[in-house]
Amino acid sequence: MRLSLRFILPLFLVLAVITWATLLLVDRFVEKWFVRDVEIRSQFVAHTLENPLLAALEAGDSQARLDSLFRSATKDERLYALAFCNPQSNMLVKSEYFPPSLNCSGDLLPAHKASGLLRFGNAPIHVSFVGVTVNNKNIGTLILVHDMSYVERRSSETKRYIFYFFALLAVVISFTTVVIAQLSWRGWINGMRAVMRGEGLLRPFSPGVSSELRPIVKDLRAMMRSLESEKAVRDEAHISWSPKSLKEILQNDLAGDEILIVSNREPYIHIRKEGKVEVQFPASGLVSALEPVMRACSGTWIAHGSGNADREFVDKKDHVQVPPDNPSYQIRRVWLTEQEEQGYYYGFSNEGLWPLCHVAHTRPVFRSKDWEAYVAVNRKFAEAIFEETKTENPVILVQDYHFALLPRMIKQRLPKASVITFWHIPWPNPEAFGICPWREEILHGMLGSSILGFHTRFHCNNFIDTVDRFMETRIDRETSTIASGGHYTAVRNYPISIEWPPRWLEGQPPIPQCQRQVRQELQIAPEVKLGVGVDRLDYTKGILERFLAVERLLELSPEFLGRFSFLQIASPSRSSIEHYKQFDQAVRQEAERINKRFGSSTYLPIHLLVEHHSPQDVFRLFRASDLCFVSSLHDGMNLVAKEFVAAREDEQGVLILSQFTGASRELPEALIVNPYDIDQCAAALQIALEMPVREQRHRMRSMRAYVAEFNVYRWAGRILIDAARMRQQHRFRERPRLGL
Ligand code: G6P
Repeated sequence: MRLSLRFILPLFLVLAVITWATLLLVDRFVEKWFVRDVEIRSQFVAHTLENPLLAALEAGDSQARLDSLFRSATKDERLYALAFCNPQSNMLVKSEYFPPSLNCSGDLLPAHKASGLLRFGNAPIHVSFVGVTVNNKNIGTLILVHDMSYVERRSSETKRYIFYFFALLAVVISFTTVVIAQLSWRGWINGMRAVMRGEGLLRPFSPGVSSELRPIVKDLRAMMRSLESEKAVRDEAHISWSPKSLKEILQNDLAGDEILIVSNREPYIHIRKEGKVEVQFPASGLVSALEPVMRACSGTWIAHGSGNADREFVDKKDHVQVPPDNPSYQIRRVWLTEQEEQGYYYGFSNEGLWPLCHVAHTRPVFRSKDWEAYVAVNRKFAEAIFEETKTENPVILVQDYHFALLPRMIKQRLPKASVITFWHIPWPNPEAFGICPWREEILHGMLGSSILGFHTRFHCNNFIDTVDRFMETRIDRETSTIASGGHYTAVRNYPISIEWPPRWLEGQPPIPQCQRQVRQELQIAPEVKLGVGVDRLDYTKGILERFLAVERLLELSPEFLGRFSFLQIASPSRSSIEHYKQFDQAVRQEAERINKRFGSSTYLPIHLLVEHHSPQDVFRLFRASDLCFVSSLHDGMNLVAKEFVAAREDEQGVLILSQFTGASRELPEALIVNPYDIDQCAAALQIALEMPVREQRHRMRSMRAYVAEFNVYRWAGRILIDAARMRQQHRFRERPRLGL
């Protein structure tokens, strides 16, 4: 309707102006035509009267004859009056209605004019002075007065008809325009919608795309994509990524939209130990990455309240303001029963999905009871989200494999929400994933996301291949988009990172002091080289392989005996799972075995600390060490590698990095190793220990520059920019529908 008015109003306006101009012209032309007509007529009447007039003048009763002649002449309805003047300008005779104001001199007419229009009372008249010549002799002047009121009548009649004509024309044109516009607009809009839905790209001749659009569908999509990607690159490259720029994106691109994060692990855990409550920052890559983002964005972080003192610190709505020293956002704690935690967290998430997604040769365990708990807890978190959201279209950032079903649950209740799911762990190939008894349910749940993020393109491709294998969907590999049941999921890679500069660097002692302190604490001599590994005590981290590499180094290069020690921090993790218990034992035994083999009363090749360390302490250890060894058997990203780099302001220290981490794609300056190849890892240890300071500086400087630039604000910013763009496109897609 609005669209039609947009056509009709200007059309009416234009026609009104044309009508008005035409009517003005009509007035002028009609008058001109009739005046000319009357003038010709006057000449004709004058000629007709010449002879009778001469005869009457020459007759004896000239006055009576002239009167009768004029009476009969003025019977003509248009000739209103007549008069005759002799050459001396004396009016000899005039008809009955001759206007008294007119005389023989014609001074009422415009100068040098023998005729013209005048008003007599209200009536328009035309006056003509026509000389009467007989036998070349001027015998006087006839004054002919014509009634011109009929001209006005004709003119207004003509104007009326013209007005009707234009009005009719306006109606006909408007109607035709509206009909044509509606028909072709609908066709175009349907076509555009099909294009925007991607149908045109997937099937260029799909029925959704109107025939006139088909030839340009591909170009249109290509152009949009290139504009989008150019903008993305431009946007990213031009922003110096910091909490401030992230905030600006939220304010400008997302116009302050509501943002919620959902994860299993909470960023601050209240733990009561020996009667005292301490706030713990967990050993979780997910938390390390998201916490600074949340501090920048504010909003609500929904997570499992897992600390034994967590309930003591929440308000009535289970909210707690954090960080405790300087609150900037809130955690909404969700409480789980022991059975729920057992089935959903330990069972399905960590005995099922965790080993399933990591190629670490640990067999996944799937139990129906665990699955039921997983479904129920996903539902519980969905309810918590619905309680927290204040708007119908929030941006919800769903984190990790604990919540594969949540995106679909959210979409069903809040169809306008932007659900962005980030899968922090790897995604295996279709064969590996296919052993999960609930594979379809999991994929269906994840495809409720608007954007689904992985760290690497490789994992995105694995996911798309898995969907291709097990689901009925339409996959556009060019745009990496999956369409299922009219819903679209963009599968994108966003390599996660850390905050830069990390807040854990604040208040750190200078590096030489860290080196001295840590060696003192470990009771090792100041000149002993120190390697460090910081992990959760998890079988995917390659801790055993790392120890074997240290052993091999000492075997092959005994000169390092007493001159090199390796410090392994292993945060206890998921300790009630049998496999983790066994792994804990295996790690301790292996360290013990190697220490027995190569250690002495004053020297331990391996220092194993199975305990939680605060991030500040971890950073101090990084600063104290000569090398950091990350030997994951499979890891989505591994942020320890990036944290080590961030801790080294002195541009010293060597990073040895497993080729099976996402980080190895971004940090090729590290010594990249295959953790299964023990000899190669031992050689890498030796190279690291002997690496000249200059080379260390070159490598470290380059890695630091990269991590500084591609920090976690950029990671979150890219996701939020994509979400904002998607929301905008969604509104754009909806707009024509509203207009019709
Ligand atoms: C990985 C997962 C995170 C998890 C972290 C620690 O990084 O991707 O989701 O938080 O391990 O594991 P936990 O089970 O202790 O939370």
